[in-house]
Amino acid sequence: MKLIVANLKMNLLFEEINVYKETLENISFTNKIVVCAPMAFVPLFKSDKYSLGAQNCYVEDKGAYTGEVSAKQLKSLGAEYVIVGHSERRSYFKEENDFINKKCLKVLENNMLPILCVGEITEEKLAGNTYNVIQKELAECLVGINNFDNLVIAYEPIWSIGTGLIPSVDEIKDAIAYIKEYVKGNYRQEVKVLYGGSVNMNNIFEIGQIDNVDGFLIGTSSININDFVNDIEKIN
Ligand code: 13P
Repeated sequence: MKLIVANLKMNLLFEEINVYKETLENISFTNKIVVCAPMAFVPLFKSDKYSLGAQNCYVEDKGAYTGEVSAKQLKSLGAEYVIVGHSERRSYFKEENDFINKKCLKVLENNMLPILCVGEITEEKLAGNTYNVIQKELAECLVGINNFDNLVIAYEPIWSIGTGLIPSVDEIKDAIAYIKEYVKGNYRQEVKVLYGGSVNMNNIFEIGQIDNVDGFLIGTSSININDFVNDIEKIN
């Protein structure tokens, strides 16, 4: 069974949510679906049919942190997954590995699963540094984590996000193998790894055939519910 995660990012309006939800609730699927809603709408996406996720959280439980939402609050809404370390948060909000590590630990402490994003930019890829970048992100974001049953890693090459460009089958397979071997080598545990970056109905089946891909983190192609349904049905 694959894990198919929608990262809706900062999309959808309140009035669009019912159609999105009802459509998703009325199709049948065999894989596990997670919807990581925009923060304002997280409680509205609670469902028996798919799992609830958020796109971010803060590292404190409560207090004077204007504008932030704690992992504990997300848990109280029924969230099961929280995306952490997404490249958009790293670049626009200057989040660094030590802060992302704190978020991972906080999500775990609240009995939810972090979806930790790692991946390289174009220049790093061209310089042959993909694995060095991934290795550093893993080393610094996974400090203090000892149970990989409750954590998911997403390999998201940054150059692939929202661009329509995707790595070759071998590049995806090798990067995911690298991540799994890193966790196995350092922690003696297995970990689930998703692929993210320009996944859509035209490529999801082929990427899903790569045997070490445990699922997908989908941005653009999850915003329109009909696109997302097509993605889901291609991999059913
Ligand atoms: P796209 O699917 O739009 O490339 O975005 C991927 C992503 O960032 C998911 O977290």
